[in-house]
This record gives sequence, structure tokens and C-alpha cells, in this order.
Amino acid sequence: MRFLRAISLLLTVAVIAAVGFLMIGWRSEIPPDDRAASTPYPPDLVTKGAQLAAVGNCIACHTKPGQEAFAGGLPIPTPFGTLYSTNITPDPETGIGRWSEAAFVRAMREGVDRQGNHLYPAFPYDHFTWVTDEDNKALYAFLMTRKPVKASAPENDLKFPLQFRPLLVGWNMLFFREGVMQPDPSQSEEWNRGRYLAEGLGHCGACHTPRNAFGAEDRNHHFAGGEAEGWQAYAINADSKSPVPWTVDSIAFYLRNGWHELHGVSRGPMAEVTGNLGLLPDSDIRAIATYIASVMGEPSPERKERGEQLLRSFGKGGADITTASLDENKASADLAGHPGAAIYGAACATCHESGRAQPFGGLHFTLSTAVNSANPQNIINVTLFGLPPADGQLSAIMPAFGNTLNDQQVADLVGYLRERFSDQPAWSGLTDLVAKTRSGEHPVTVLPSDGIERAPKNVGAKEQK
Ligand code: HEC
Ligand code: HEC
Ligand code: HEC
Repeated sequence: MRFLRAISLLLTVAVIAAVGFLMIGWRSEIPPDDRAASTPYPPDLVTKGAQLAAVGNCIACHTKPGQEAFAGGLPIPTPFGTLYSTNITPDPETGIGRWSEAAFVRAMREGVDRQGNHLYPAFPYDHFTWVTDEDNKALYAFLMTRKPVKASAPENDLKFPLQFRPLLVGWNMLFFREGVMQPDPSQSEEWNRGRYLAEGLGHCGACHTPRNAFGAEDRNHHFAGGEAEGWQAYAINADSKSPVPWTVDSIAFYLRNGWHELHGVSRGPMAEVTGNLGLLPDSDIRAIATYIASVMGEPSPERKERGEQLLRSFGKGGADITTASLDENKASADLAGHPGAAIYGAACATCHESGRAQPFGGLHFTLSTAVNSANPQNIINVTLFGLPPADGQLSAIMPAFGNTLNDQQVADLVGYLRERFSDQPAWSGLTDLVAKTRSGEHPVTVLPSDGIERAPKNVGAKEQK
């Protein structure tokens, strides 16, 4: 009897807890607004919204390659299964054409849809919660003036029991802090603007911060390096492995142009980010760079000295690299017998030691963050798949070597680059990693340097004005 009573007590407590939990997380439906999509919006508000949407990279996740912009349906693989982005065009049936501004703001700020369902954090509302009402108004005006497209996303394919959205209430309790950014009065206006853009709409941390077992960003390792679409998003904090330390100027240049003479071109998903940031005024780019540089902090005296030494041996721009200055860096003769040396000499050196200026010449690998990082994935990606040309413009191009080199050869080559051009320990498991990348077991998104090939029909936010 006593046992039964204890059980029923326990059950009662569990039910009360569950009901309480659901009540805390319960959100009501916001009534449909049938006039939302036909209301006129001021053109300057729409233009501002276009810029903000570019910072938020909305088009990248909400567009399938070759399909209509913002119509959703792009599969987003996660460790918990595959999610599909939704249609955010103003189509009344399948898009957000009946969402009032209040419903849109709630989605951005709380991660809840118009009907009151919790959204999965693959939609980065944990960052978008920082966006001000004023900026949300502009974003809303921009989306409501897009072309309505009838398209429904496929059902999400998530591991049991994750299709049950109320579970997200628990995730939110643990990991989500709702609220607009509070400026830090001890910092400059520019720094605060940069923080607002980078941590809020720009959601840099969604790729650059590692995630925990629940898929939430690990706050203790902010910007310490993460993963995105099969690429390593390098550390952009004090752990940065860039041989020449980044500065406000170099970050601003890289974000503005998608390349930097001492750092090479932005590739993979970062190409999309820098492509989209093209819409922002210089002052905003500068603000982001100011904030990111402050997160990186002053490099240690040793790193700074090493960077300056590199600058001296390369000459600014890496254009006057000589074999002599190379040999100073590493006794390359010691590596002459390395199985990767001959491949490098025959296939890579002509472009990567040509001294041709960035972004059209290959970066000298002594300057490469990729070669100096703990994970070789990005070099493998570039070697196998190359850098495809950007349509209709002059761009950095590199041939793909996937068809000419076998897995062992790529592994030897990558191992050689590491040994020759960095002072970091050798990578292990290379052949296996190359094989998985080639076979698609480790899927990789390959984009040209402007990042807009992914949705050719829409050509990115640049033309969404
Ligand atoms: C990293 C990918 C990603 C980015 C970037 C992104 N979204 Fe989404 N978004 C999603 C996914 C995935 C969903 C669906 C989530 C779900 O099913 O719970 C979604 C859902 C939404 C919804 C809810 C729509 C509905 O019908 O329920 C809105 C509104 C939205 N996004 C707006 C935006 C805006 C505006 C931006 C840019 C500022 C943006 N998203 C950027 C992935 C993204
Ligand atoms: C969708 C994922 C994604 C987002 C969002 C993103 N990045 Fe990146 N970022 C990457 C990847 C992947 C790389 C590596 C690219 C490469 O190999 O060229 C990268 C590289 C970089 C680099 C070069 C680092 C180095 O040492 O070479 C900088 C700087 C950078 N990102 C800054 C930012 C900033 C600032 C933001 C926010 C405005 C941002 N990123 C948002 C994925 C992302
Ligand atoms: C026809 C010229 C050409 C050849 C040949 C070539 N590359 Fe490249 N490579 C480029 C250009 C241009 C870039 C873009 C500029 C940059 O970021 O270095 C690039 C970029 C790269 C990058 C990214 C730079 C970084 O940050 O580390 C890697 C890695 C790379 N190449 C590896 C290789 C390897 C390995 C080979 C030989 C198998 C090779 N490349 C052969 C032209 C070339």
C-alpha cells in the first residue's frame, strides 16, 4: 500500500510538473492578418530591410538551389535529423502572408510561429532575439514585399521524440535568453553597433562557436571555432590560428571583399556571408570588425613577433615571396622524400608560390589558417572540389583535384602541407577523412567566392533591393 501511495504521489508530481512546464511554454495563436501582404510599405524601409536580411543571411537557409528566393524547403542536416526551412514569402497559404508584424516579431524574438508552435533553433532565434523592434519592422516590410511563392516545405525528419515541439520549452529554459541587446556603456558606439550586428542578426556564433550535446552554443567557448555545412568555421577569438594575426583593418577588408592579401579568400558558407555583407555600408562593416578584433584581443607577444617576421619575409601582400625566404621558414630539403612533396611541386606550387596577388593567386601556405588549424577539413574540401568560378565576374578560381588525385595522394599532400608550412603536430586519420569527404559521407557545400551559386535563380541578396 505504502508503495502504491508513493508511486501515485510521484505520478501526481510528474503530471503537475509536466503541466506547469507546458503552461510556461504555451504560446497562443496570433490572429491572421489578411491585409499584411497587400499593405504598402515605404521604399526606404524596404531597402533597409534588404540590408538587414543580408546580414541575417535569411536567403541562404530559406532558398533551395535553383528555386525561388525565400520559398524555403532547403534541407538543413543536424545531428538530430533533417529540418526543412519554411516558406517566408508573403504567400497567404504556404508562406507568411497572413502574419501580422507582431507575429513576425514574436518569431524573431522568441522562436514561436504565428500559430503558437515553438520553432527549432536551427532558425537562429537565439541570436535574432537581439534585433530591435525598429529593425524587425524593416525586415518585415522587406519580406512582405517579396514575390509570393506557393511552396510547402517537406515534413521534418527528426529522431524520436524530437518531432514533439513542446520539448523545445525545455531547451529554451536551459539555453535561451530572450531579449534585445543591452549596450555596454563602457564601450564605444561603434563597438556596440558591431556587437549588435555580429551577435544578433549576423549570428556569427552559429557557425563559429562549438555546440554542446543539445545543439546549443557553448557559451564558455564563444567563437572558439565550429562547423558549418561540412567546413570548419575557424576560431575567431584569442584561439585564432591565423599565422598573421587579424586586425580591425584586415577583418574589415575581408568582410567587405571576401578575401585579404594575407589570409586568402572566404570559402564555403563564409563566401555566402561575405557575399551578403556586400549590401552593408562601410561603417557597419567597420563596426563588426572592431567588435570581432576586440573579441580576438591583442595577440601574445610571441604571436605578434611571428606575424611580423612573416610579414618581413613575405613583403606586404605576399607578392615578393622567394624560395629563399621559404627555406628560411622550413628546411624544405628535409622533406624532399615526403610522398606529398612531388605532388605539391607538380600540382600546387605553380599557383601557390607564384607570387601572384590575392585573390587570383593561391595564398602562400605559410599564411594559411587552414594549414595551421587543428582540423584539416577545409584543405581537403578545397583540394577535392576546387573553387568554382563565380558567374559573370572575375573571381578566384582553383581547379578541383578530386579526379586527378586518389585518396592516398590527397592525404599525403595534405600531410606534407602541414609539415612543411606549419609548426603544428601532424594530422592523423587523413586518408579516412579524404575518403568520407569524397564519397559524400561527410557532405560539403561548395560555392564560388561570391557565395551566390547556391541559388542561381535568385542570385542572392545582392539583387534583392
Ligand atoms: C541557419 C538557417 C536559417 C537562417 C540563417 C534563417 N532561418 Fe528562418 N528558419 C530556419 C528554419 C530551419 C526554420 C524552420 C524551423 C522549424 O521548423 O521549427 C525557420 C523558420 C523561420 C520562420 C518561421 C516561419 C514559419 O512559417 O513558421 C521565420 C519567420 C523565419 N525563419 C524568418 C527568418 C528571417 C527573417 C531570417 C533572416 C533574418 C531567417 N529566418 C534566417 C532557418 C534559418
Ligand atoms: C554559415 C556559417 C558562418 C557564419 C554565419 C559566419 N561564418 Fe565566418 N567562417 C565560416 C567558415 C566555414 C569559415 C572558413 C572559411 C574558409 O575556409 O575560407 C569562416 C571564416 C571566417 C573568418 C576567417 C578566419 C581565418 O582565420 O581565416 C573570419 C574573420 C570570419 N569567418 C568572420 C565571421 C564573422 C564576423 C561573421 C558574422 C558576421 C561570420 N564569420 C559568420 C562560417 C561562417
Ligand atoms: C591554377 C592555380 C591553382 C592551382 C594549380 C592550385 N591552387 Fe589552390 N588556390 C588557388 C587560388 C586562386 C586560391 C584562392 C586564393 C586563396 O585563398 O589562396 C586557392 C586557394 C587554395 C586553398 C585555400 C587557401 C588557404 O587559406 O589555405 C587551399 C587549401 C588550396 N588552394 C590548396 C591547393 C592545393 C593542395 C593544390 C594542389 C593540389 C592547389 N591548391 C593548386 C589557385 C590554385
